[in-house]
Amino acid sequence: MSFDRKIKIAPSILAADFANFGAECAAIEAQGADWVHVDVMDGHFVPNITFGPATCAAIRPHIKGVMDVHLMIAPVDPYIEGFAKAGADVITAHVEAGAHTHRTLQAIRAAGAKSGLALNPGTPVSEVEYYLDMVDLICVMTVNPGFGGQKFIHSQIEKVKQLRALIGDRPIHIEIDGGVDPVTAPLVAAAGADVLVAGSAVFKGGSVSNPAPYGENIRNIRAAAEGVWA
Ligand code: DX5
Ligand code: ZN
Repeated sequence: MSFDRKIKIAPSILAADFANFGAECAAIEAQGADWVHVDVMDGHFVPNITFGPATCAAIRPHIKGVMDVHLMIAPVDPYIEGFAKAGADVITAHVEAGAHTHRTLQAIRAAGAKSGLALNPGTPVSEVEYYLDMVDLICVMTVNPGFGGQKFIHSQIEKVKQLRALIGDRPIHIEIDGGVDPVTAPLVAAAGADVLVAGSAVFKGGSVSNPAPYGENIRNIRAAAEGVWA
């Protein structure tokens, strides 16, 4: 995984057909997805349950590129090894998930994955200040985690700007998660984000037997985001 700040579209398989993950991952990659975003929820840290390391291991062979695993679970540490062994390239934990985030980030890198840190909408940028040398990605949640298809929270744009200034030249991705579509993508791209997670806005209108809409949706989000550079 090399580092750059080009816009990367990361469809969230939370919006995919759960009976067809392998084919859905292959379809979104064939349609232009850069990363595949995998939302793990435990019914405790967030009020929804998805899947765990066994599902990640099962879908891994169907993903050619980056498998980006977003852990909305608490505790995190007992499961890091399992997600790393399942083939996660990036493992992102929430700063709100426990008292020992520093230890969690060390454990993620020790397990051989890139380390990510996610911030809920109410969590300030200052929370990441002492982790900047231990993270490869910071995820700004632009919805409250737990469900797809929610409305983008605009107050987070200012947070992205602050984060971009704090990061400076460090090779840290800024990822946006929640409510990203062609209208909101340019707002966060202009603020400094480079990885755009999108669930409903990518999968709408398509299916594994009709994947062309995935491609059109991905191209529309990317064009809107890249438009702010012109
Ligand atoms: C929310 C998840 C997001 C979400 C994005 O808890 O982390 O990845 O599925 O979905 P949309 O793009 O529909 O907001
Ligand atoms: Zn996510």
